Amino acid sequence: MRAVVAPAGAALELALIDRAVAGPGQVLIKIAYAGINRPDLIQRMGAYPPPPGAPQTMGLECSGEIVAIGPGVTRWKPGDLVCALLPGGGYADYAWADEGCCMAIPDGLSLLEAAALPETVLTVWANVFERAALQPGEHFLVHGGASGIGTTAIQMAKAHGAKVYATAGGAQKAALCTTLGADVAIDYQTQSFVEIIKADGGVDVVLDMVGGPYVQQNLDCLKLDGRCVQIAFLQGPQVQLNLMALMLKRLTLTGSTLRARTVAEKSRLARAVETHVWPWVAGGQVRPLIDSVFELEDADAAQAKMQANAHAGKIMLKVAG
Ligand SMILES: NC(=O)c1ccc[n+]([C@@H]2O[C@H](COP(=O)([O-])OP(=O)(O)OC[C@H]3O[C@@H](n4cnc5c(N)ncnc54)[C@H](OP(=O)(O)O)[C@@H]3O)[C@@H](O)[C@H]2O)c1
Repeated sequence: MRAVVAPAGAALELALIDRAVAGPGQVLIKIAYAGINRPDLIQRMGAYPPPPGAPQTMGLECSGEIVAIGPGVTRWKPGDLVCALLPGGGYADYAWADEGCCMAIPDGLSLLEAAALPETVLTVWANVFERAALQPGEHFLVHGGASGIGTTAIQMAKAHGAKVYATAGGAQKAALCTTLGADVAIDYQTQSFVEIIKADGGVDVVLDMVGGPYVQQNLDCLKLDGRCVQIAFLQGPQVQLNLMALMLKRLTLTGSTLRARTVAEKSRLARAVETHVWPWVAGGQVRPLIDSVFELEDADAAQAKMQANAHAGKIMLKVAG
């Protein structure tokens, strides 16, 4: 099958490799579309190795048709259309997926749109709705509001009834956050999110991918009993903190990664997303924002666009759609 490989220090290229095989509890998907995620870029740099047993090639999500099932699979059969969270290997003609990590295509969505959902929706669900337990009526801040994760988080938090603050780099990206439903969009290039949010009385939950100097500022923005969830640290993992706010405001600082979770945990998250988020998707309250679609052989240009932050929402690969 065709798969995108990453020769050390060179551009991504298409190669022919052995076709993926569905093992016990797994399905084989003929991929229509695959999503590009920032973790793919980090994997390519060598800082995010695939977990044991995962394909070495990149690609954390896809949509397509199930063409074979392994022993023990009960929910799916060949011919079913699904979107799936993958342990890797999505930049290819075929990928195996754990049965529990496959999800029904939400009503009314194309295969292109469905492929854009698994990584971001499961990440936002796991961190904002489970770890931080965002409640309707609470105030929620997401950094990187125009990112794949950010565009999803804004819409899911709004659908849940939260007041949403989003930061983004530049007036255009900030305006996009407003279009997606953010009540307050902050262009961090010209505005201080700390000043704006403190003047508004603070937020209950922060979803942060920036790290570095943002961590103290996030704590400063939180209300009593506030929760901050770290899902990445684009400005660095090492921080110096004044813990006074943590104690006085009874704050929680936590974090998680999706890829390192067990299949059972990811499957549980996938069921929760089908139950709670797919109705929002079918109802139009949550829609994937597709920035651009590249052919599989143009994966290098697609990743370069993400590296340059020249996108808003999701960058996708068309495999056979
Ligand atoms: N923990 C998990 O389970 C998990 C799962 C999925 C993704 N993630 C992480 O979540 C983040 C978003 O993923 P994504 O796929 O949505 O990526 P993405 O679309 O590329 O978004 C990343 C955004 O971060 C901002 N950014 C980039 N470099 C920055 C820097 N040095 N300082 C501050 N901001 C910067 C950019 O927004 P502006 O142009 O507005 O600055 C960019 O749009 C990534 O860091 C990814 O690793 C974590």
